[in-house]
Amino acid sequence: MLVQLLSSTLTWLLVAAASCAYLLRTKRRPIFPVVNDYPLDFFRQRAHREYRSNAKKLLADGFAKHGGPITVLVPGGSKIVLPSALSDWMKTNRDLDHQQLVREEYFDRFPGFEGLRAIHSPDNVVIDMLRAKLSAQNESILPAVDQHVAAALEEHWGDAESWHAISWDRDTTGIISRAAASVFVGPEKAADPEWQALVQTYVRELFTAVGKLHAWPAPLRPLVQWFLPQTSACRTLVRQARATMRDVVDQRAREAKTAADQGLEPPRYDDAVAWTQAAPNNADSNKPEAGDIQLALAVAALFTTTEALKQVLIDIARHPELVEPLREEIRQSLSDRWQVGQAALANMELLDSVVKESQRLVPLLVGLERKVIRDTTLPDGTRIPEGSHVMVDSSDMWSPEVHEEPESYDGYRFLKRRRAGHKATQFVQSSREHNVFGGGRHICPGRFFASSELKLCLAHILTKYDVRLKDGYRSAPIPSGFYAIVDPAAQLEVRRRGVSTGF
Ligand SMILES: *[C@@H]1O[C@H](CO)[C@@H](O)[C@H](O)[C@H]1NC(C)=O
Repeated sequence: MLVQLLSSTLTWLLVAAASCAYLLRTKRRPIFPVVNDYPLDFFRQRAHREYRSNAKKLLADGFAKHGGPITVLVPGGSKIVLPSALSDWMKTNRDLDHQQLVREEYFDRFPGFEGLRAIHSPDNVVIDMLRAKLSAQNESILPAVDQHVAAALEEHWGDAESWHAISWDRDTTGIISRAAASVFVGPEKAADPEWQALVQTYVRELFTAVGKLHAWPAPLRPLVQWFLPQTSACRTLVRQARATMRDVVDQRAREAKTAADQGLEPPRYDDAVAWTQAAPNNADSNKPEAGDIQLALAVAALFTTTEALKQVLIDIARHPELVEPLREEIRQSLSDRWQVGQAALANMELLDSVVKESQRLVPLLVGLERKVIRDTTLPDGTRIPEGSHVMVDSSDMWSPEVHEEPESYDGYRFLKRRRAGHKATQFVQSSREHNVFGGGRHICPGRFFASSELKLCLAHILTKYDVRLKDGYRSAPIPSGFYAIVDPAAQLEVRRRGVSTGF
Protein backbone atom coordinates (compact mmCIF):
# COMPACT_ATOMS: atom_id res chain seq x y z
CA MET A 1 0.00 0.00 0.00
CA LEU A 2 2.60 2.48 1.18
CA VAL A 3 4.92 1.45 -1.61
CA GLN A 4 2.19 2.03 -4.13
CA LEU A 5 1.38 5.38 -2.65
CA LEU A 6 5.02 6.40 -2.62
CA SER A 7 5.68 5.22 -6.11
CA SER A 8 2.64 6.98 -7.43
CA THR A 9 3.63 10.16 -5.59
CA LEU A 10 7.08 9.81 -7.07
CA THR A 11 5.62 9.34 -10.52
CA TRP A 12 3.60 12.50 -10.17
CA LEU A 13 6.57 14.43 -8.86
CA LEU A 14 8.58 13.36 -11.88
CA VAL A 15 5.76 14.28 -14.17
CA ALA A 16 5.43 17.66 -12.51
CA ALA A 17 9.16 18.28 -12.85
CA ALA A 18 9.05 17.30 -16.48
CA SER A 19 6.11 19.65 -17.06
CA CYS A 20 7.96 22.57 -15.48
CA ALA A 21 11.00 21.89 -17.58
CA TYR A 22 8.83 21.72 -20.65
CA LEU A 23 7.03 24.93 -19.84
CA LEU A 24 10.28 26.75 -19.21
CA ARG A 25 11.79 25.44 -22.38
CA THR A 26 8.86 26.40 -24.55
CA LYS A 27 8.30 29.77 -22.98
CA ARG A 28 9.14 32.36 -25.55
CA ARG A 29 8.70 36.06 -25.57
CA PRO A 30 5.73 36.92 -27.76
CA ILE A 31 6.73 38.92 -30.84
CA PHE A 32 3.42 40.76 -31.15
CA PRO A 33 1.47 42.67 -28.50
CA VAL A 34 -0.45 40.36 -26.17
CA VAL A 35 -4.10 41.35 -25.94
CA ASN A 36 -5.03 39.38 -22.84
CA ASP A 37 -2.11 40.02 -20.51
CA TYR A 38 -3.33 41.31 -17.13
CA PRO A 39 -1.45 42.50 -14.05
CA LEU A 40 -1.09 39.87 -11.31
CA ASP A 41 -2.66 37.21 -13.51
CA PHE A 42 0.18 34.78 -12.76
CA PHE A 43 -1.67 31.63 -13.62
CA ARG A 44 -3.33 33.17 -16.63
CA GLN A 45 -6.76 32.41 -15.25
CA ARG A 46 -8.18 35.73 -16.33
CA ALA A 47 -6.40 35.54 -19.70
CA HIS A 48 -7.96 32.16 -20.44
CA ARG A 49 -11.37 33.23 -19.18
CA GLU A 50 -11.34 36.25 -21.45
CA TYR A 51 -10.20 34.10 -24.36
CA ARG A 52 -12.94 31.55 -23.79
CA SER A 53 -15.87 33.89 -23.35
CA ASN A 54 -14.86 37.19 -24.87
CA ALA A 55 -12.57 36.46 -27.80
CA LYS A 56 -14.50 38.49 -30.37
CA LYS A 57 -13.98 41.68 -28.38
CA LEU A 58 -10.37 40.81 -27.52
CA LEU A 59 -9.57 40.59 -31.22
CA ALA A 60 -11.55 43.67 -32.23
CA ASP A 61 -10.00 45.82 -29.47
CA GLY A 62 -6.56 44.36 -30.14
CA PHE A 63 -6.61 45.20 -33.84
CA ALA A 64 -8.08 48.64 -33.19
CA LYS A 65 -5.34 49.41 -30.69
CA HIS A 66 -2.30 47.88 -32.38
CA GLY A 67 -3.25 48.02 -36.05
CA GLY A 68 -1.19 44.92 -36.83
CA PRO A 69 -0.59 41.31 -35.75
CA ILE A 70 -1.45 40.42 -32.17
CA THR A 71 -0.85 37.56 -29.75
CA VAL A 72 -3.60 35.88 -27.77
CA LEU A 73 -2.81 33.71 -24.76
CA VAL A 74 -4.77 30.48 -24.86
CA PRO A 75 -4.70 27.45 -22.56
CA GLY A 76 -1.48 25.61 -23.33
CA GLY A 77 0.24 28.42 -25.26
CA SER A 78 -0.40 31.39 -27.45
CA LYS A 79 -1.66 32.09 -30.92
CA ILE A 80 -0.72 34.80 -33.40
CA VAL A 81 -3.60 36.45 -35.21
CA LEU A 82 -2.79 38.45 -38.34
CA PRO A 83 -5.03 41.03 -40.00
CA SER A 84 -6.96 39.68 -42.99
CA ALA A 85 -4.86 41.89 -45.27
CA LEU A 86 -2.16 39.22 -44.82
CA SER A 87 -4.42 36.43 -46.17
CA ASP A 88 -2.58 36.17 -49.47
CA TRP A 89 0.77 36.02 -47.74
CA MET A 90 -0.62 33.19 -45.58
CA LYS A 91 -2.10 31.28 -48.49
CA THR A 92 1.04 31.23 -50.57
CA ASN A 93 3.69 30.83 -47.88
CA ARG A 94 5.27 27.37 -47.95
CA ASP A 95 6.77 27.83 -44.48
CA LEU A 96 3.27 27.46 -43.10
CA ASP A 97 1.38 24.21 -42.99
CA HIS A 98 -2.19 23.41 -42.11
CA GLN A 99 -1.86 19.65 -41.98
CA GLN A 100 0.96 19.86 -39.48
CA LEU A 101 -1.24 21.99 -37.29
CA VAL A 102 -4.06 19.46 -37.39
CA ARG A 103 -1.67 16.61 -36.63
CA GLU A 104 -0.40 18.38 -33.54
CA GLU A 105 -3.60 19.96 -32.28
CA TYR A 106 -5.64 16.79 -32.75
CA PHE A 107 -3.00 14.36 -31.48
CA ASP A 108 -2.98 12.16 -34.54
CA ARG A 109 -0.25 9.91 -33.07
CA PHE A 110 -2.41 8.59 -30.25
CA PRO A 111 -3.89 5.11 -30.63
CA GLY A 112 -7.59 5.41 -31.44
CA PHE A 113 -6.98 8.55 -33.49
CA GLU A 114 -6.28 6.62 -36.69
CA GLY A 115 -9.42 8.13 -38.24
CA LEU A 116 -7.80 11.49 -37.90
CA ARG A 117 -4.35 10.35 -38.94
CA ALA A 118 -5.76 8.89 -42.17
CA ILE A 119 -7.08 12.27 -43.36
CA HIS A 120 -3.54 13.56 -43.50
CA SER A 121 -1.79 10.30 -44.31
CA PRO A 122 1.51 10.90 -46.07
CA ASP A 123 0.33 9.78 -49.50
CA ASN A 124 -2.78 11.98 -49.18
CA VAL A 125 -4.99 9.19 -50.43
CA VAL A 126 -8.09 10.64 -48.77
CA ILE A 127 -7.62 14.26 -49.80
CA ASP A 128 -6.66 13.36 -53.37
CA MET A 129 -9.71 11.15 -53.63
CA LEU A 130 -12.00 13.91 -52.37
CA ARG A 131 -10.49 16.35 -54.84
CA ALA A 132 -10.77 14.01 -57.81
CA LYS A 133 -14.09 12.31 -57.24
CA LEU A 134 -16.18 14.81 -55.36
CA SER A 135 -15.41 17.73 -57.62
CA ALA A 136 -17.82 20.43 -58.67
CA GLN A 137 -18.63 18.76 -61.97
CA ASN A 138 -19.32 15.22 -60.88
CA GLU A 139 -23.00 14.59 -61.00
CA SER A 140 -22.99 10.83 -60.94
CA ILE A 141 -22.66 10.96 -57.16
CA LEU A 142 -25.90 12.92 -56.80
CA PRO A 143 -28.59 10.25 -57.31
CA ALA A 144 -27.28 8.12 -54.44
CA VAL A 145 -27.06 11.10 -52.10
CA ASP A 146 -30.56 12.17 -53.12
CA GLN A 147 -32.05 8.74 -52.43
CA HIS A 148 -30.39 8.39 -49.07
CA VAL A 149 -31.41 11.88 -47.96
CA ALA A 150 -35.02 10.93 -48.76
CA ALA A 151 -34.80 7.66 -46.86
CA ALA A 152 -33.01 9.19 -43.88
CA LEU A 153 -35.56 11.99 -43.63
CA GLU A 154 -38.38 9.51 -43.64
CA GLU A 155 -36.66 7.56 -40.90
CA HIS A 156 -35.71 10.53 -38.72
CA TRP A 157 -38.43 13.12 -39.30
CA GLY A 158 -41.30 10.76 -40.07
CA ASP A 159 -44.52 11.56 -41.85
CA ALA A 160 -46.74 12.88 -39.07
CA GLU A 161 -48.71 15.83 -40.37
CA SER A 162 -48.98 17.37 -36.91
CA TRP A 163 -46.20 19.42 -35.37
CA HIS A 164 -43.65 17.38 -33.45
CA ALA A 165 -40.18 18.03 -32.07
CA ILE A 166 -37.24 16.27 -33.66
CA SER A 167 -34.31 15.01 -31.68
CA TRP A 168 -32.05 17.88 -32.63
CA ASP A 169 -28.67 16.25 -32.86
CA ARG A 170 -29.64 12.72 -33.82
CA ASP A 171 -32.14 13.72 -36.50
CA THR A 172 -29.79 16.10 -38.24
CA THR A 173 -26.52 14.16 -37.90
CA GLY A 174 -28.34 11.00 -38.99
CA ILE A 175 -29.37 12.53 -42.31
CA ILE A 176 -25.98 14.02 -43.14
CA SER A 177 -24.20 10.87 -42.09
CA ARG A 178 -26.31 8.57 -44.21
CA ALA A 179 -26.24 10.83 -47.26
CA ALA A 180 -22.45 11.02 -47.13
CA ALA A 181 -22.07 7.34 -46.41
CA SER A 182 -23.93 6.52 -49.62
CA VAL A 183 -20.87 7.82 -51.45
CA PHE A 184 -18.23 6.89 -48.88
CA VAL A 185 -19.11 3.28 -48.12
CA GLY A 186 -21.88 2.38 -50.57
CA PRO A 187 -25.65 1.99 -50.25
CA GLU A 188 -25.70 -1.13 -48.11
CA LYS A 189 -23.62 0.03 -45.17
CA ALA A 190 -25.01 3.56 -45.49
CA ALA A 191 -28.41 2.15 -44.55
CA ASP A 192 -27.00 -0.09 -41.81
CA PRO A 193 -27.87 1.33 -38.35
CA GLU A 194 -24.95 -0.44 -36.72
CA TRP A 195 -22.43 1.11 -39.10
CA GLN A 196 -24.11 4.50 -38.75
CA ALA A 197 -23.90 4.30 -34.97
CA LEU A 198 -20.24 3.32 -35.18
CA VAL A 199 -19.06 6.24 -37.31
CA GLN A 200 -21.22 8.81 -35.57
CA THR A 201 -20.07 7.70 -32.14
CA TYR A 202 -16.47 7.74 -33.27
CA VAL A 203 -16.66 11.34 -34.45
CA ARG A 204 -18.33 12.45 -31.22
CA GLU A 205 -15.90 10.62 -28.96
CA LEU A 206 -12.89 11.79 -30.94
CA PHE A 207 -13.77 15.47 -30.77
CA THR A 208 -14.66 15.19 -27.08
CA ALA A 209 -11.37 13.42 -26.41
CA VAL A 210 -9.44 16.16 -28.19
CA GLY A 211 -11.15 18.79 -26.03
CA LYS A 212 -10.43 16.88 -22.83
CA LEU A 213 -6.79 16.32 -23.75
CA HIS A 214 -6.30 20.03 -24.36
CA ALA A 215 -7.30 20.67 -20.76
CA TRP A 216 -4.17 18.79 -19.61
CA PRO A 217 -0.64 20.18 -19.77
CA ALA A 218 0.99 19.01 -22.98
CA PRO A 219 3.62 16.74 -21.41
CA LEU A 220 0.95 14.77 -19.55
CA ARG A 221 -1.26 14.10 -22.54
CA PRO A 222 0.56 11.01 -23.81
CA LEU A 223 -0.07 9.47 -20.40
CA VAL A 224 -3.59 10.78 -19.85
CA GLN A 225 -4.79 9.51 -23.22
CA TRP A 226 -4.58 5.96 -21.89
CA PHE A 227 -7.15 6.69 -19.19
CA LEU A 228 -9.87 8.85 -20.72
CA PRO A 229 -13.12 7.01 -21.46
CA GLN A 230 -13.37 8.78 -24.83
CA THR A 231 -9.93 7.75 -26.06
CA SER A 232 -10.57 4.22 -24.96
CA ALA A 233 -13.90 4.27 -26.86
CA CYS A 234 -12.02 5.52 -29.94
CA ARG A 235 -9.56 2.64 -29.74
CA THR A 236 -12.42 0.13 -29.58
CA LEU A 237 -14.29 1.79 -32.44
CA VAL A 238 -11.20 1.79 -34.66
CA ARG A 239 -10.86 -1.95 -34.12
CA GLN A 240 -14.53 -2.45 -34.98
CA ALA A 241 -14.40 -0.23 -38.06
CA ARG A 242 -11.33 -2.05 -39.32
CA ALA A 243 -12.93 -5.45 -38.83
CA THR A 244 -16.17 -4.39 -40.54
CA MET A 245 -14.38 -2.85 -43.49
CA ARG A 246 -12.05 -5.83 -43.89
CA ASP A 247 -15.19 -7.94 -44.29
CA VAL A 248 -16.54 -5.55 -46.91
CA VAL A 249 -13.28 -5.59 -48.86
CA ASP A 250 -12.97 -9.37 -48.63
CA GLN A 251 -16.56 -9.86 -49.68
CA ARG A 252 -16.01 -7.71 -52.74
CA ALA A 253 -12.86 -9.62 -53.61
CA ARG A 254 -14.74 -12.90 -53.37
CA GLU A 255 -17.55 -11.63 -55.59
CA ALA A 256 -15.01 -10.47 -58.16
CA LYS A 257 -13.32 -13.85 -58.12
CA THR A 258 -16.59 -15.77 -58.47
CA ALA A 259 -17.56 -13.55 -61.39
CA ALA A 260 -14.16 -14.04 -63.04
CA ASP A 261 -14.39 -17.82 -62.57
CA GLN A 262 -17.71 -17.76 -64.38
CA GLY A 263 -16.35 -15.53 -67.11
CA LEU A 264 -18.63 -12.65 -66.00
CA GLU A 265 -17.97 -8.99 -65.42
CA PRO A 266 -17.22 -8.37 -61.74
CA PRO A 267 -19.82 -6.28 -59.88
CA ARG A 268 -18.95 -2.58 -60.05
CA TYR A 269 -18.70 -0.57 -56.88
CA ASP A 270 -18.67 3.15 -57.01
CA ASP A 271 -17.76 4.48 -53.59
CA ALA A 272 -14.76 5.66 -51.61
CA VAL A 273 -13.92 2.08 -50.64
CA ALA A 274 -13.45 1.14 -54.29
CA TRP A 275 -11.74 4.42 -55.22
CA THR A 276 -9.14 4.28 -52.47
CA GLN A 277 -8.52 0.59 -53.15
CA ALA A 278 -7.84 1.45 -56.75
CA ALA A 279 -5.60 4.40 -55.89
CA PRO A 280 -1.89 3.77 -56.53
CA ASN A 281 0.06 2.86 -53.44
CA ASN A 282 3.48 4.42 -53.08
CA ALA A 283 5.88 1.70 -52.05
CA ASP A 284 7.41 3.87 -49.35
CA SER A 285 4.17 4.83 -47.65
CA ASN A 286 1.44 2.71 -46.24
CA LYS A 287 -2.06 3.25 -47.47
CA PRO A 288 -4.34 3.50 -44.45
CA GLU A 289 -6.72 0.64 -43.75
CA ALA A 290 -10.16 0.83 -45.35
CA GLY A 291 -11.69 1.20 -41.88
CA ASP A 292 -9.41 4.13 -41.03
CA ILE A 293 -10.31 5.82 -44.30
CA GLN A 294 -14.01 5.54 -43.53
CA LEU A 295 -13.50 7.04 -40.09
CA ALA A 296 -11.38 9.79 -41.62
CA LEU A 297 -14.15 10.67 -44.05
CA ALA A 298 -16.63 10.79 -41.20
CA VAL A 299 -14.32 12.98 -39.10
CA ALA A 300 -13.91 15.37 -42.01
CA ALA A 301 -17.48 15.45 -43.25
CA LEU A 302 -19.89 14.76 -40.45
CA PHE A 303 -19.61 17.43 -37.78
CA THR A 304 -18.93 20.39 -40.06
CA THR A 305 -21.73 19.65 -42.52
CA THR A 306 -24.21 18.87 -39.76
CA GLU A 307 -23.38 22.16 -38.09
CA ALA A 308 -24.09 23.94 -41.35
CA LEU A 309 -27.41 22.16 -41.80
CA LYS A 310 -28.45 22.92 -38.23
CA GLN A 311 -27.75 26.62 -38.56
CA VAL A 312 -29.66 26.88 -41.84
CA LEU A 313 -32.64 25.10 -40.29
CA ILE A 314 -32.65 27.51 -37.36
CA ASP A 315 -32.36 30.51 -39.66
CA ILE A 316 -35.11 29.33 -41.99
CA ALA A 317 -37.36 28.69 -39.00
CA ARG A 318 -36.67 32.25 -37.86
CA HIS A 319 -37.28 33.69 -41.31
CA PRO A 320 -40.41 31.98 -42.59
CA GLU A 321 -40.67 34.60 -45.34
CA LEU A 322 -37.81 32.75 -47.08
CA VAL A 323 -39.67 29.47 -47.30
CA GLU A 324 -41.99 30.07 -50.26
CA PRO A 325 -39.35 31.70 -52.48
CA LEU A 326 -37.02 28.81 -51.69
CA ARG A 327 -39.69 26.22 -52.49
CA GLU A 328 -40.40 27.94 -55.75
CA GLU A 329 -36.71 28.00 -56.67
CA ILE A 330 -36.34 24.32 -55.82
CA ARG A 331 -39.39 23.42 -57.89
CA GLN A 332 -38.09 25.35 -60.87
CA SER A 333 -34.58 23.96 -60.58
CA LEU A 334 -35.53 20.31 -60.25
CA SER A 335 -38.60 20.45 -62.51
CA ASP A 336 -41.71 18.48 -61.65
CA ARG A 337 -39.83 15.25 -62.12
CA TRP A 338 -37.23 16.00 -59.43
CA GLN A 339 -34.31 15.87 -61.84
CA VAL A 340 -31.23 16.06 -59.72
CA GLY A 341 -28.04 17.28 -61.36
CA GLN A 342 -25.22 19.77 -60.85
CA ALA A 343 -26.91 22.31 -63.12
CA ALA A 344 -30.11 22.07 -61.07
CA LEU A 345 -28.18 22.59 -57.85
CA ALA A 346 -26.30 25.50 -59.37
CA ASN A 347 -29.63 27.10 -60.22
CA MET A 348 -30.58 27.20 -56.56
CA GLU A 349 -29.01 30.62 -56.12
CA LEU A 350 -31.21 31.83 -53.30
CA LEU A 351 -30.64 28.61 -51.39
CA ASP A 352 -26.90 29.01 -51.95
CA SER A 353 -27.11 32.53 -50.56
CA VAL A 354 -29.11 31.38 -47.53
CA VAL A 355 -26.59 28.65 -46.71
CA LYS A 356 -23.67 31.07 -47.00
CA GLU A 357 -25.45 33.69 -44.91
CA SER A 358 -26.06 31.13 -42.16
CA GLN A 359 -22.39 30.23 -42.26
CA ARG A 360 -21.42 33.89 -42.06
CA LEU A 361 -23.17 34.51 -38.78
CA VAL A 362 -21.80 31.58 -36.79
CA PRO A 363 -18.92 33.55 -35.34
CA LEU A 364 -15.78 31.65 -36.35
CA LEU A 365 -13.36 34.40 -35.46
CA VAL A 366 -10.28 33.20 -37.29
CA GLY A 367 -9.38 31.34 -40.46
CA LEU A 368 -6.41 29.92 -42.38
CA GLU A 369 -4.87 28.35 -39.29
CA ARG A 370 -1.32 27.19 -39.89
CA LYS A 371 1.73 25.93 -38.08
CA VAL A 372 5.02 27.66 -38.89
CA ILE A 373 7.23 24.74 -39.96
CA ARG A 374 10.35 26.86 -40.67
CA ASP A 375 11.22 30.34 -39.43
CA THR A 376 9.49 32.75 -41.74
CA THR A 377 9.19 36.52 -42.27
CA LEU A 378 6.21 38.78 -42.74
CA PRO A 379 6.23 41.19 -45.70
CA ASP A 380 7.43 43.93 -43.30
CA GLY A 381 10.41 41.82 -42.27
CA THR A 382 9.19 40.62 -38.85
CA ARG A 383 10.48 37.13 -38.17
CA ILE A 384 8.01 34.49 -36.95
CA PRO A 385 9.76 31.50 -35.41
CA GLU A 386 9.17 27.87 -36.27
CA GLY A 387 6.52 26.28 -34.10
CA SER A 388 4.29 29.35 -33.94
CA HIS A 389 0.59 28.92 -34.47
CA VAL A 390 -0.73 31.57 -36.86
CA MET A 391 -4.10 32.47 -38.32
CA VAL A 392 -5.95 35.44 -39.79
CA ASP A 393 -8.75 37.49 -38.37
CA SER A 394 -12.15 36.72 -39.93
CA SER A 395 -14.02 39.80 -38.80
CA ASP A 396 -14.53 40.94 -42.41
CA MET A 397 -17.51 38.57 -42.34
CA TRP A 398 -19.36 40.97 -40.07
CA SER A 399 -17.61 44.22 -40.83
CA PRO A 400 -19.71 47.22 -41.87
CA GLU A 401 -17.01 47.97 -44.43
CA VAL A 402 -17.88 44.78 -46.27
CA HIS A 403 -21.55 44.20 -45.48
CA GLU A 404 -24.55 46.43 -45.00
CA GLU A 405 -26.22 45.78 -41.67
CA PRO A 406 -23.70 43.08 -40.93
CA GLU A 407 -25.37 41.96 -37.71
CA SER A 408 -28.69 41.11 -39.31
CA TYR A 409 -29.61 37.94 -41.17
CA ASP A 410 -30.41 38.49 -44.82
CA GLY A 411 -31.01 35.34 -46.85
CA TYR A 412 -30.72 37.37 -50.04
CA ARG A 413 -27.41 38.99 -49.05
CA PHE A 414 -25.09 36.92 -51.21
CA LEU A 415 -27.56 36.68 -54.06
CA LYS A 416 -27.71 40.48 -54.17
CA ARG A 417 -23.94 40.64 -54.08
CA ARG A 418 -23.73 38.11 -56.89
CA ARG A 419 -26.16 40.12 -59.01
CA ALA A 420 -24.19 43.28 -58.24
CA GLY A 421 -21.07 41.66 -59.67
CA HIS A 422 -19.15 40.98 -56.45
CA LYS A 423 -16.62 38.16 -56.53
CA ALA A 424 -16.72 34.98 -54.45
CA THR A 425 -20.40 35.16 -53.57
CA GLN A 426 -21.12 31.43 -53.82
CA PHE A 427 -21.10 29.09 -50.87
CA VAL A 428 -18.16 27.04 -52.17
CA GLN A 429 -16.06 30.10 -52.93
CA SER A 430 -13.54 31.25 -50.38
CA SER A 431 -12.20 34.78 -50.20
CA ARG A 432 -10.42 37.15 -47.88
CA GLU A 433 -13.80 38.44 -46.69
CA HIS A 434 -15.26 34.98 -46.09
CA ASN A 435 -12.70 32.31 -45.38
CA VAL A 436 -14.55 29.54 -43.56
CA PHE A 437 -13.38 26.93 -46.09
CA GLY A 438 -9.78 28.09 -45.75
CA GLY A 439 -7.73 28.91 -48.80
CA GLY A 440 -4.65 28.26 -50.89
CA ARG A 441 -3.44 24.69 -51.20
CA HIS A 442 -5.27 23.74 -48.00
CA ILE A 443 -8.71 24.89 -49.11
CA CYS A 444 -11.32 22.39 -47.94
CA PRO A 445 -11.44 19.65 -50.60
CA GLY A 446 -14.90 18.55 -49.47
CA ARG A 447 -16.67 21.86 -49.98
CA PHE A 448 -18.33 20.91 -53.26
CA PHE A 449 -19.66 17.73 -51.80
CA ALA A 450 -20.83 19.51 -48.65
CA SER A 451 -22.62 22.05 -50.79
CA SER A 452 -24.41 19.42 -52.90
CA GLU A 453 -25.33 17.43 -49.84
CA LEU A 454 -26.73 20.46 -48.02
CA LYS A 455 -28.72 21.63 -51.01
CA LEU A 456 -30.24 18.20 -51.53
CA CYS A 457 -31.12 17.93 -47.84
CA LEU A 458 -32.74 21.34 -47.84
CA ALA A 459 -34.56 20.67 -51.11
CA HIS A 460 -36.15 17.60 -49.57
CA ILE A 461 -36.83 19.27 -46.25
CA LEU A 462 -38.40 22.42 -47.64
CA THR A 463 -40.50 20.52 -50.13
CA LYS A 464 -41.77 17.95 -47.69
CA TYR A 465 -41.84 19.68 -44.31
CA ASP A 466 -42.74 22.83 -42.47
CA VAL A 467 -40.25 23.76 -39.76
CA ARG A 468 -40.44 26.11 -36.80
CA LEU A 469 -38.72 26.72 -33.50
CA LYS A 470 -40.68 25.84 -30.41
CA ASP A 471 -42.75 28.82 -29.40
CA GLY A 472 -40.65 31.38 -27.56
CA TYR A 473 -37.40 29.48 -28.05
CA ARG A 474 -34.40 31.74 -28.67
CA SER A 475 -31.47 30.15 -30.41
CA ALA A 476 -27.90 31.41 -30.61
CA PRO A 477 -24.54 29.85 -31.43
CA ILE A 478 -22.32 29.24 -28.43
CA PRO A 479 -18.93 30.94 -28.68
CA SER A 480 -15.91 29.14 -27.32
CA GLY A 481 -12.67 31.00 -27.79
CA PHE A 482 -12.04 31.61 -31.48
CA TYR A 483 -14.67 29.07 -32.45
CA ALA A 484 -18.37 28.60 -31.94
CA ILE A 485 -20.81 25.76 -32.12
CA VAL A 486 -24.32 25.97 -33.45
CA ASP A 487 -26.96 25.94 -30.69
CA PRO A 488 -26.69 22.32 -29.49
CA ALA A 489 -30.11 22.35 -27.84
CA ALA A 490 -32.32 23.99 -30.46
CA GLN A 491 -35.93 22.91 -30.19
CA LEU A 492 -36.98 22.41 -33.77
CA GLU A 493 -40.49 21.25 -34.59
CA VAL A 494 -41.50 19.83 -37.94
CA ARG A 495 -44.57 18.52 -39.70
CA ARG A 496 -44.97 16.69 -42.98
CA ARG A 497 -46.77 18.77 -45.56
CA GLY A 498 -49.84 17.26 -47.18
CA VAL A 499 -48.77 15.04 -50.06
CA SER A 500 -50.75 17.20 -52.48
CA THR A 501 -48.53 20.18 -51.72
CA GLY A 502 -45.36 18.24 -52.38
CA PHE A 503 -44.03 16.85 -55.62
C1 LIG B 1 -17.81 10.80 -60.45
O1 LIG B 1 -18.39 9.97 -59.49
C2 LIG B 1 -18.51 8.61 -59.88
C3 LIG B 1 -19.24 7.90 -58.75
O2 LIG B 1 -20.56 8.20 -58.69
C4 LIG B 1 -17.16 8.02 -60.15
O3 LIG B 1 -17.27 6.71 -60.59
C5 LIG B 1 -16.45 8.84 -61.19
O4 LIG B 1 -15.16 8.37 -61.34
C6 LIG B 1 -16.42 10.31 -60.79
N1 LIG B 1 -15.89 11.10 -61.88
C7 LIG B 1 -14.68 11.61 -61.84
C8 LIG B 1 -14.31 12.46 -63.02
O5 LIG B 1 -13.92 11.41 -60.94
